[in-house]
Amino acid sequence: MTSPPLKVLVLHGPNLNLTGFREPDLYGKKPLAEIDEEIQQTAAELGIEVRILQSNHEGVLIDALQENRSWADGVVINPGGLTHYSIALRDGLAAVRLPVIEVHLSNVYAREEFRSKSVIAPVAVGQIAGLGSSGYSLALRAMIRIQENIL
Ligand code: DQA
Repeated sequence: MTSPPLKVLVLHGPNLNLTGFREPDLYGKKPLAEIDEEIQQTAAELGIEVRILQSNHEGVLIDALQENRSWADGVVINPGGLTHYSIALRDGLAAVRLPVIEVHLSNVYAREEFRSKSVIAPVAVGQIAGLGSSGYSLALRAMIRIQENIL
């Protein structure tokens, strides 16, 4: 019997809709639409179902978590600037009791000091930072391992 596909909710936080245009030296030249295509492609290869959402609003991201909590097996999130201060998003992630992987396009540890602090990291299984858009594909692969308990 084949097992049902793994379902992963992918969330992009504030300003990530401008990826490609915004500070390309830090975040790359690839527009978010292309990154999302890459995510869809990797997901298809791995047999994962994904739902992808970008929002500039904290509450919309929290609503998406709550709305998808019964559907999703895991969450991959780039919280953007919310990473560094949003207790509400952190609580929302903890509340849904799903494995979370935090992704950053840039190496937040090689930048301003305030970016070295993530309030999300303690409720995530792990974090991928500084590997550009490939971080999302790596996170999907890791999610399979988390689900199979072989991380
Ligand atoms: C980011 C890093 C954050 O510090 C920043 O506020 C972003 C993008 C990244 O992907 O590198 O918006 O999450």
